[in-house]
Amino acid sequence: MYRYNPDDLALIRERAAQFRAQVARWRSGALRDEEFRPLRLQNGLYVQRHAPMLRVAVPYGMISAVQLRKLADISRRYDKGFGHFTTRHNLQLNWIRIEDAPDILDELTEVEMHSIQTSGNCIRNITTDPFAGIAPDEGMDPRPLAEILRQWSAMHPEFSFLPRKIKIAISGSAGDRVLSWYHDIALRLDGEDEEGATFTVIVGGGLGRTPLRGQIIEQGLPWRHLLSYLEAIVRVFNLHGRRDNPYKARLKILVQRLGLAEFSRQTRDEWAHLKGGPATLTKAEYQRVAAHFSPPAYRSPTAQSAARLTTRKTAHPDFARWLERAVHPHKIPGYAAVILSLKAPGQAPGDITAAQMESVAALADDFSFGEARIAHEQNLVLADVEQGRLFELWQAARKDALATPNTGLLTDMICCPGGDFCDLANARSVAIARAIQTRFADLDTLFDLGEISLNISGCVNACGHHHVGNIGILGVDRQSEEFYQITLGGSQGSAAHIGKVIGPAVPAARVVDVVARILAVYRRERRPDETFLRTFDRIGSAPFKPCLRAADAETRAETAARN
Ligand code: HEM
Ligand code: SF4
Repeated sequence: MYRYNPDDLALIRERAAQFRAQVARWRSGALRDEEFRPLRLQNGLYVQRHAPMLRVAVPYGMISAVQLRKLADISRRYDKGFGHFTTRHNLQLNWIRIEDAPDILDELTEVEMHSIQTSGNCIRNITTDPFAGIAPDEGMDPRPLAEILRQWSAMHPEFSFLPRKIKIAISGSAGDRVLSWYHDIALRLDGEDEEGATFTVIVGGGLGRTPLRGQIIEQGLPWRHLLSYLEAIVRVFNLHGRRDNPYKARLKILVQRLGLAEFSRQTRDEWAHLKGGPATLTKAEYQRVAAHFSPPAYRSPTAQSAARLTTRKTAHPDFARWLERAVHPHKIPGYAAVILSLKAPGQAPGDITAAQMESVAALADDFSFGEARIAHEQNLVLADVEQGRLFELWQAARKDALATPNTGLLTDMICCPGGDFCDLANARSVAIARAIQTRFADLDTLFDLGEISLNISGCVNACGHHHVGNIGILGVDRQSEEFYQITLGGSQGSAAHIGKVIGPAVPAARVVDVVARILAVYRRERRPDETFLRTFDRIGSAPFKPCLRAADAETRAETAARN
């Protein structure tokens, strides 16, 4: 894991001190609210429905046991003893006081953490594959380049006031676990090592009110030119992105307006000034950073441990289920990556208590070289677990509700904070998630339904990625009542695409019934071993539409009876 050098530390400490002075000026009345707003946003401090929210960055999702313990401590002393992991490697603290923010930022610096660029119109936290460095389908580990991107983009003077935020994801795997097609910029590393690695660059993707799939702008970009090429893209955006209308300001809108060919021409013109200049990466610089990501001291597996795993699987069906869902392959023989589910029944998806943070820290120390990762799906990952110790890990994780075997199943939902916290929400998200968890708590049912993604957003900003869920639920406002629009057939991964709206929106009280009806259609129509998405792709939306029509008719009848 990357460790800060004195310059990195000085930078975040000075920034924290600067923010302390800004808060003091605001509290004394020397800064008006509207003057303070951009300053707090540059430090990840939002003001939400009930309280300020601080978004802490976890660059490319890597977090140490020490950092987790610090976050637990902060969440207990300054918040209500929990936090919320987002889809882009951040932790949100929902109940802090602005007055405490400078102290929190100071405490974060003690463990090399900060909240710089977790908000505002700048280059946001760089995201990557939670299995980076250990995935069998990976060519080259993207984390050193993700760290180089972090250093390049942190407080980049030219890119601190962009027309709108830029979200970058980087991955070195064949399987797409970073939502490449729906990022402003996605970088796919091709090649095995720094001798010959190149990038495929995708631009102009995004969800939100105008969901657009990204397009490939460059293939075979030598890795040494990564920074200069990105500078060219962001310069074109900085020059021509719209600043008059925040809804039309994202890079995707510029790419759509200019067309890929023209956007690409302008990028190349800009790149001509930058290519080969000081931003060109050297092998020495790559190796300096890559040294922080050297593999840990793996041990050789024993035949005995493999045999023990098989016996335990047979003796404990619950353990076998967990192995099936939570355990992922590792490129080193005898090791596995393990998902610690933050989707236990009754838990708001992505929420983690201070006690759980401490448990994850202890598990990371004991089982995974003191480190954990954050997955896009709002779960945690222990990336380097000996297979021979999986049973032991399962027993320990179960005690703290971190071993729900639902990864990839219906209740492994992506869900935004919605109306319980967010000022922009049309409707609550967490209440819907909880109702679905309660209705579908039975593991036999979940396993029978198989792989399915259900994503919930409380408004059109799409923080819960509803467009790309196999089932998407979007909160909409109908005369100040919470209604929900349902989409079907969206998907993430290499063939990611947007789902289709299948009928009129339904009120909160009917959402779970509609989901149950949709799943009943799937069960009726599916062929052996066919996932929900496959069935939907084969039969289309028509068989599912009556589910919404029935709910709509019931709602109308109820409204008529009330009036
Ligand atoms: C509660 C505080 C939050 C606020 C006020 C907020 C606000 C927003 C807004 C306004 C956008 C749209 C930006 C645009 O299209 O220009 C956005 C996008 C996004 N948010 Fe949030 N968000 C919040 C929390 C979260 C959380 C908790 C997550 C993860 C679960 C999240 C994930 C995202 C993602 C991934 C996008 C990009 C969607 C896209 O592709 O366009 N946000 N957010
Ligand atoms: S989708 Fe809407 S409601 Fe949900 S967090 Fe984003 S802005 Fe808030």
